[in-house]
Amino acid sequence: MKFFYFDNSATSSPKPQTVYESVDYTLKNLNTNPGRGGHQLGISCATAIYKVRKKIQKFFNVDNELNIAFTNNSTTALNFAIKGSLASNDVVITSNIEHNSVLRPLFTLKEEINLEVEVLPYKDFIENFILRIENPSLKKPKMLILNHMSNVNGVSFDLEKIGLICNRHKIMFIVDGSQSAGLIPIDMKAMNIDILCFTGHKSLFGIQGTGGICIQNGISLKNIISGGTGSHSTMLSQPQEMPDLLEAGTLNAPGILALGCGIDFIDSIGLAEIKSHEKFLKEEFIKGIKKINENSINSGNEARIILYTSFGENDGPIISLNIKGISSSDLSTYLDEEYNIITRSGLHCAPLLHQELKTDLTGATRFSFGYFNTIDEILYAIDALQKIVIQS
Ligand SMILES: Cc1ncc(COP(=O)(O)O)c(C=O)c1O
Repeated sequence: MKFFYFDNSATSSPKPQTVYESVDYTLKNLNTNPGRGGHQLGISCATAIYKVRKKIQKFFNVDNELNIAFTNNSTTALNFAIKGSLASNDVVITSNIEHNSVLRPLFTLKEEINLEVEVLPYKDFIENFILRIENPSLKKPKMLILNHMSNVNGVSFDLEKIGLICNRHKIMFIVDGSQSAGLIPIDMKAMNIDILCFTGHKSLFGIQGTGGICIQNGISLKNIISGGTGSHSTMLSQPQEMPDLLEAGTLNAPGILALGCGIDFIDSIGLAEIKSHEKFLKEEFIKGIKKINENSINSGNEARIILYTSFGENDGPIISLNIKGISSSDLSTYLDEEYNIITRSGLHCAPLLHQELKTDLTGATRFSFGYFNTIDEILYAIDALQKIVIQS
């Protein structure tokens, strides 16, 4: 059955052919526990993983490939970054476009160790951030943690400008690159990012169960998980050098090697080309929605579709919408069952942005496009939405 897959913000699908082939190859030919044996297979697998560290180092301009630890996803990486660097009474600034994988660790620490969490609105963020940190009567924040790109409306922050401010004020700068990595360039050095957390299975085209944390020189974290690393086995505490500090337990070798193929695929197409294709799809989709609203108005009715997206140069191909009179979950289910169109309804784990958009009670239906979507698929979705508006 042909599905029209517009849920790439949840996980990208399909993957490049090389990613599928890599998982198959690794399981059949390199299926050992990397770093746990001195045998030929173990060394080959560990060497292949090291090469993926090098690719990631280059892709995000990380100081040192050994400062990259692989994790299961960005949620784990964000927990490492947040819980591994904050202490009682520290002040953290964040924004209202954050995902629960940032908000929940922060608000858990607020309860547990009296962390002070300040949430600034994403609109006019830079102006408000400067006002806040230059206010001498307020406590100096230790950290700024920001979601690079919203998974609800695609809005993105200008990390270069924000990183410069953090650097001048000596504020640790942590970035959640879950939505942006693989879509727009992230240069840790140029953007003064201290810690970058990424997930492998979205725009980096890896598979689920992969992600990582990249730490610049001079930043140290406490580990929140301890266990076997295949190194320093006589030590009863966690080795302190990276990546072993954060890589307790067996690595997901098939996933990591497939992630390397995802990055090779991006490099072969180029980020600019990927972004330009997805921007084109987004523009055509918006054009179609505007036409549906115009059709409603021309036939004497009100515009029915409310859009939640943003149009900055680096904003992502992520559009949430509501059709007046239909709940977001009904719309998503109807699109799925009648048209094989895959979207995601609800709050997208981003409750504060939905509050700001005034959709916290209704949710919204999200369309998120990916490199493999085509213009024909966009036109099909527009046609389906037009029919639903007419019928409802
Ligand atoms: C902005 C953002 N941060 C973090 C995450 C969490 O990613 P994962 O579930 O891969 O850990 C997501 C997932 O949708 C996201 O959109």
